Amino acid sequence: MLSRYQGAGVRRKLQLGIVGCGDIAGYLALLARLNPGIALAACCDIAEDRLQRFAKRFRIPYTFQSYEAMLNEQALDAVYLAVPHHLHAAMLHQAIDRQIPALVEKPITRTLAEARDVVSRAHERGVKIAVNYQYRYDSGCFVLARAVQQGALGRIYHARINLAWRREMDYFQQASWHASLQTSGGGTLITQGSHLLDLILWALGEPPRYAYGSTARLKFSQVEVEDLAQAVLEMPSGALVQISSALLSPRERPLQIEIYGERGIGLYSDRPWPRTRFLGIRPPRVRLPVGGVHALQRSLEAFRRWIQEDAPYLTPAEQTLNVLATIEAIYRSARTGRKELVELENCE
Ligand SMILES: NC(=O)c1ccc[n+]([C@@H]2O[C@H](COP(=O)([O-])OP(=O)(O)OC[C@H]3O[C@@H](n4cnc5c(N)ncnc54)[C@H](O)[C@@H]3O)[C@@H](O)[C@H]2O)c1
Repeated sequence: MLSRYQGAGVRRKLQLGIVGCGDIAGYLALLARLNPGIALAACCDIAEDRLQRFAKRFRIPYTFQSYEAMLNEQALDAVYLAVPHHLHAAMLHQAIDRQIPALVEKPITRTLAEARDVVSRAHERGVKIAVNYQYRYDSGCFVLARAVQQGALGRIYHARINLAWRREMDYFQQASWHASLQTSGGGTLITQGSHLLDLILWALGEPPRYAYGSTARLKFSQVEVEDLAQAVLEMPSGALVQISSALLSPRERPLQIEIYGERGIGLYSDRPWPRTRFLGIRPPRVRLPVGGVHALQRSLEAFRRWIQEDAPYLTPAEQTLNVLATIEAIYRSARTGRKELVELENCE
């Protein structure tokens, strides 16, 4: 049987609606314009001037200031949600109720409880929800994760992740939702660090058992969320994972992931280009599941293929529950000062 996306051998372009015409949506729209399989059918933002500028820049024919109106009036094959974190859950439910697949920006929702509801509702209704943890499609990260998954490094003893980025006050002023716990759910850990948490949990293939963490507000003491988070995760295998996520570095540093196994070491850095060096081993060659020059481009194309061709997407919603479970355990630990249990999710 032909799917709704196919007919007479010609596949129509995926009709995509973009919701939230802010920072990341600009990059994604640019890449979508380069993708011959995607048509930017409509965009939506509550800020009228931003909406119109965005539509003009990316030649998007229909604009909406209301998400609900867009869903009701526009025939869409999928939506891309790039709005503040506190809006993710409700918008996902609205899409699921209308059987519209969604690519939602990370984190899937602001809290684990919200994420569980979304995942179970999406399963009930048979709607595909993807979370844009695009580092899984980064060439260096993909090679590293596959080497771990294939056992090339042997038993993993420990990993270290360092995200040392630089932000100034305008980051919070231009998008004030970043500054509030109610709208963001947290600071650099949930907003930036969660990318690399997702990646390491995917590579190791299991969620941590315990988390021990601390957070601090050092540079931006006038906002509610942390600008530095550090944690140690205890994995069921006995391995330890150390993560540091910071927005206060005086100079922006390359992202670094180091994974130490019994047979070898994998060292990832995203500068000058994404790359993993291996010490002590030569892992089997692997190919990224989709082509493209940038992880975001590949993630978008993989989403299109998931919707139109049912080719697997690397980060379906249910796989991201453990990321939120881990983040919540780290935040709890930062409050209690104790090692906290990570509420495990049974993810396939
Ligand atoms: N994947 C990545 O690398 C990456 C990078 C940056 C941000 N993000 C994520 O993308 C999301 C958006 O972040 P951003 O930095 O682009 O934020 P932003 O503040 O730049 O953009 C958010 C946009 O949403 C709009 N908006 C707010 N309420 C709305 C509503 N009810 N309906 C429609 N539009 C509404 C705002 O007006 C704004 O234009 C977040 O989940 C963030 O964590 C992901």
